[in-house]
Amino acid sequence: MEILLVKDIRKSFGKVEVLKGVSFSVRSGEVFGFVGPNGAGKSTTMKIIMDFIRQDSGEVLLFGRMNSDPAVKRRVGFLPEHPYFYTNVTGREFLRFLQLTMSLEESLFWERAGYYAEKIQIDWALDKKISEYSKGMLQRFGLLQAVVSEPDLLILDEPMSGLDPIGRKIVADLILELKENGKTVFFSTHILPDVERICDRACVIIDGRVTDLVESGDLQNIEDIFMERVREIGLREVL
Ligand SMILES: Nc1ncnc2c1ncn2[C@@H]1O[C@H](COP(=O)(O)OP(=O)(O)OP(=O)(O)O)[C@@H](O)[C@H]1O
Ligand SMILES: [Mg+2]
Repeated sequence: MEILLVKDIRKSFGKVEVLKGVSFSVRSGEVFGFVGPNGAGKSTTMKIIMDFIRQDSGEVLLFGRMNSDPAVKRRVGFLPEHPYFYTNVTGREFLRFLQLTMSLEESLFWERAGYYAEKIQIDWALDKKISEYSKGMLQRFGLLQAVVSEPDLLILDEPMSGLDPIGRKIVADLILELKENGKTVFFSTHILPDVERICDRACVIIDGRVTDLVESGDLQNIEDIFMERVREIGLREVL
């Protein structure tokens, strides 16, 4: 079953069309990679999926419903490209706000928060002010707030970005664990070996168009597919 359906999305900023008819779908239970050069339109697509910005045309279905439906929003966790949090609070205080917005029993929430915080190795920093977090700590905290509600679908915009090699491995392992538990993960990245290692399928987006859907049997060639396509289209035109 398709959990996320992106149908012919177009989006312009001013006179510049940055998404030129983007279509792809993500199946329930898979890990799906979203790769493309800088400025290709990955984050814009993800923000549209999350209904943070609106497309000019085309539609997005989540769990078979319009993405603007509040009922589906609760089932999705999101890590933005530049996680920004109200910084004058500690990590734990921020989680407390989050808990209040969720219909999850308090003790269960903190049990889960403790579990994921330890796994992501941010547990030691939860009593520090978020304003004191380093880049990688913010990234780890961003991931924690996305997973703590154990949503059916996780949308992660460059989850490995800014992380040290151990952090990257932790995130890759976490994505695989979520999949084991029946969750679906859609994430963007520039780290192609990670795509090969942890994804079931992936798609390539260049200059606002999906150029390739890469099936599992072909994932070991993702680097070649990516480089060849960029060469073909010409990065100069793209950038
Ligand atoms: N709010 C905005 N106003 C104007 N242009 C924008 C805006 N947001 C994005 N763009 C443009 O849209 C294009 C796609 O940007 P987007 O952030 O989606 O790329 P990306 O694939 O996520 O790139 P990266 O790999 O660098 O994160 C870029 O040309 C960017 O300049
Ligand atoms: Mg981006």
